[in-house]
This record gives sequence, C-alpha cells and structure tokens, in this order.
Amino acid sequence: DLSPIDKAKFVAAKRAVDYVEDGMRVGLGTGSTAAWMVRCLGEIIREEGLNITGVPTSSRTADLARNVGINVISLDEAKWLDLTIDGADEFDADLNLIKGGGGALLQEKIVATASDRMIVIADVAKEVAALGAFPLPVEVIPFGWQTSKALIEETLVNMDVLGQNTTLRMNGDTPFVTDEGNYILDLHLRRISNARQLSLVMNQVPGVVENGLFLDICDVVVIGGGDGTVEVRD
Ligand code: A5P
Repeated sequence: DLSPIDKAKFVAAKRAVDYVEDGMRVGLGTGSTAAWMVRCLGEIIREEGLNITGVPTSSRTADLARNVGINVISLDEAKWLDLTIDGADEFDADLNLIKGGGGALLQEKIVATASDRMIVIADVAKEVAALGAFPLPVEVIPFGWQTSKALIEETLVNMDVLGQNTTLRMNGDTPFVTDEGNYILDLHLRRISNARQLSLVMNQVPGVVENGLFLDICDVVVIGGGDGTVEVRD
C-alpha cells in the first residue's frame, strides 16, 4: 500500500511510460519520481518485449536501470534521444522548471536538451505560481568555490534579487559531491521573477558549471494526485 505522495509519483510515472514506443532511445531522469518511471519501464520491457535503450542521468539511475533490465548506454553512444522522462522540484504554468534537488542537474540538463521531447513527472505539490520557493541549485567546481559563491551573491545583489542566501550543499560533515565531482550551491531566493536573465548570468560566473533552471526544455508535465488521478499539461 502506497502513501498518497508515492501513489501520486507512481501514477504519473506509469502514465508517462505510455509515451515510450518500441525502438526508442530514452533519457532516464533522477530522483524518487524518476525511479518509479525506471521501474515501470523495466516492467513494460519485460512484459511487452520492447526494444528500449536508456541513457541515465546519474550513477544512481544507471544502477537502478540495469537492475530492472534496461539496456543502458551513454549519451555519446546514443548521440540523440527520442524522449527523456524526469522529475522536477518545481514547475510553473509555462512548464519551466527548477531541478537539481537530487544533485543531478548537470547530466539531466544535457540529456534533456539532447532529446526530441522532455516529459516531466510530478506530484501536484510541485506546481507553483512562480519558481523559486525551492532553493535554486547551482553546480560549481570545487576549485575556488568560495570565490564563485561570493561572485554569485554579488551578482544577485546587483540584480536586485531579494532574499539571497546561498548555502553549500552538505552530505553530513562534508560537501555533497556530484557525479561530475563538483559542489552544489543552493540559492534561497523565494521567488524568481527574471528566470531567463538569472540563468544566463549565473552561468557566466567563473566556476559555475550549470544551474537548475530548465527553461523552454520541458514539453509535457504529467501530474499525479494522491488519489490516483493524472493530469497531462502540454
Ligand atoms: C535530481 O537532480 C532532481 O532534478 C530531481 O529530478 C528532482 O529533485 C525531483 O526529485 P523527486 O522526484 O525525488 O522529488
């Protein structure tokens, strides 16, 4: 028996795998919702004998995908994908997203951008009127990260972004390290009113590798409810 939140994630994931067709190369997202999708995909591959190739967006997802019997290749081997299915931390009415709560934003953004379509699966609680209540993850290289952090904070002040407060993501007593060996700074902004400018400016700070704003990348959001209902937004 699933809790309402798990049920919401599961029904969204189950509906999203309906988009997967025989022969497709599919980008596999990261996080608890995406994990449901990977398990559902493994199931339909087994039951329907589909020939599906998966490109994972993290080492965690790669392990899970192999465990459920999905043929896993790298993005460089696939070159281009038909579809990516991934979770999100927030989505708005324009289907713009904040991602990276699980720390996999860099591979997630590269894989989603290399896909003809990106489908996001989310529970209803992830819909927001304005992005930013969820802290915006920014991936930085470890070298000189404190300088990058100071430059980010200065940039936010110059942009008049209120409520700025930037924290280094931790894993117990040590910094959280991404699959690429980088750190993550979480920007507590409360409300982002100029996402496009913010995304461009963040990625210009030396040491910043990528930020968690996914703008004009997502094509469809499949929203699951705790009561098992599903709504598709595109
Ligand atoms: C991983 O880096 C994130 O982008 C996830 O997609 C996001 O955090 C959603 O995770 P959950 O499905 O666990 O909420």
